[in-house]
Amino acid sequence: MEIKKLKTKGETMIERAESQFWAYELDNNDSQKDLVLLDNVQFIYELSLAELELRALGVDFEVTNGLREFKILNKSNEQREIIKSRGSYYKTVDGQLTNYFQIIQKNQTRSVNQYLTHWIYPYKGKFHPQMIRALLNIIELKEGDTVFEPFSGSGTTALEAQLLGINFIGIDISSLCVIQGRVKTESIYVLDEIIELKDTLISKIVRGLVEEKANYYYEMINELSPDERVRNFYKLARLLAVSDSSRRSRDFRTSFAKNLYLMIESIKDYVEIKEKLNLKLGDIKIEVGDSRNVNLPDNSVDGIITSPPYSIALDYVQNDIHSLKDLGYDVLRMRDEFIGVRGNGRNKVELYNEDMKKSYSEMYRVLKHNKYAVIVIGNATYQGQEIKTVDFTIKYMGSLGFSLVKNINKIIFGLYNVMKRENILIFKKVK
Ligand SMILES: C[S@@+](CC[C@H](N)C(=O)[O-])C[C@H]1O[C@@H](n2cnc3c(N)ncnc32)[C@H](O)[C@@H]1O
Repeated sequence: MEIKKLKTKGETMIERAESQFWAYELDNNDSQKDLVLLDNVQFIYELSLAELELRALGVDFEVTNGLREFKILNKSNEQREIIKSRGSYYKTVDGQLTNYFQIIQKNQTRSVNQYLTHWIYPYKGKFHPQMIRALLNIIELKEGDTVFEPFSGSGTTALEAQLLGINFIGIDISSLCVIQGRVKTESIYVLDEIIELKDTLISKIVRGLVEEKANYYYEMINELSPDERVRNFYKLARLLAVSDSSRRSRDFRTSFAKNLYLMIESIKDYVEIKEKLNLKLGDIKIEVGDSRNVNLPDNSVDGIITSPPYSIALDYVQNDIHSLKDLGYDVLRMRDEFIGVRGNGRNKVELYNEDMKKSYSEMYRVLKHNKYAVIVIGNATYQGQEIKTVDFTIKYMGSLGFSLVKNINKIIFGLYNVMKRENILIFKKVK
């Protein structure tokens, strides 16, 4: 089946960046300015993070021109290179485009945040990738350091760490999450093998030569490639179509072909930008695991960035039920392992608190001394009552020997003016 090549978001953005597009407009005067923010930086918390990031990168600065530009007070070539290669919120430094500006142009979707492989699979509750890049810098992680994510979800931190050359260890109780994280970060190493199988897969699926039933498909994939990374890629391609057809009533075959095409284009984008910017990628390890009992030695990781389930706000099993069933999981049994999902009534909150205490203690145990743990969390409402997850976290982390060094309110308005309130809590292991 021939699939028409549409203009990608990235291509459109570059086109518009040269003329009118608000988010990425390049001003002719930018070349004379020290440091210019990306136009998509809109919220107060983002400006706070941009300032913290600059300080962590060793930059003295003054904010100028309606908060959108910075004057650098201790300028040097070395510093310009650091901001250019590691910064998260800046369009240009000394008139030169930053790596991040160039990375986010590689986007196959309509959403500014879903560049490279971030978009693959519609997982609810994803981190904002730009914020994660900034946090990796703010907690002073360098190339070759290791960051740990005990609730790695869709793999946002994994991909952002990889791009900065930071090694990543992630666990999640859900195999669906593990597949997402791995495909986003590992497919670039097997792009040729993936492309080789594309036509076979498309013709079998689209022409109806393989039944749409899961077991036929997965058996076929197992026979087609001995490489787990290739098999995971094609598993996720199927799960995207499963999700599209069950949640959005899209035609399975059309959705499979379209998503497969976009997935491959995104992996090509990643390979291209890696070569163009000469990126040294971090090593990524993502496994199924339980945050309450982590299989890592004491004092072994250089930083933690994570967002745990927000009390009992989202039912992660129910959200992905179609894909989990497709993969053959017993979803009822699974619920017993998921924090915030297990239990009933009031008992649910108690179980959540117990589970999170164990998870926070494990974070304390595996983190090195004087290093940072970032927890992004919000309060949830259950049975009409607000559950004070944020206060609980601050108190319990304090009792373990963490000191709260920053508490940034992240208040954002989404579609239909729905307000979302979260806190970015930065702790240091001091005792
Ligand atoms: C808020 S989400 C994380 C989202 C992630 N930051 C992202 O960007 O996609 C919380 C995650 O915790 C996972 N989870 C729930 N219970 C867990 C447990 N006992 N151990 C590890 N992960 C668990 C869920 O599967 C879910 O992916």
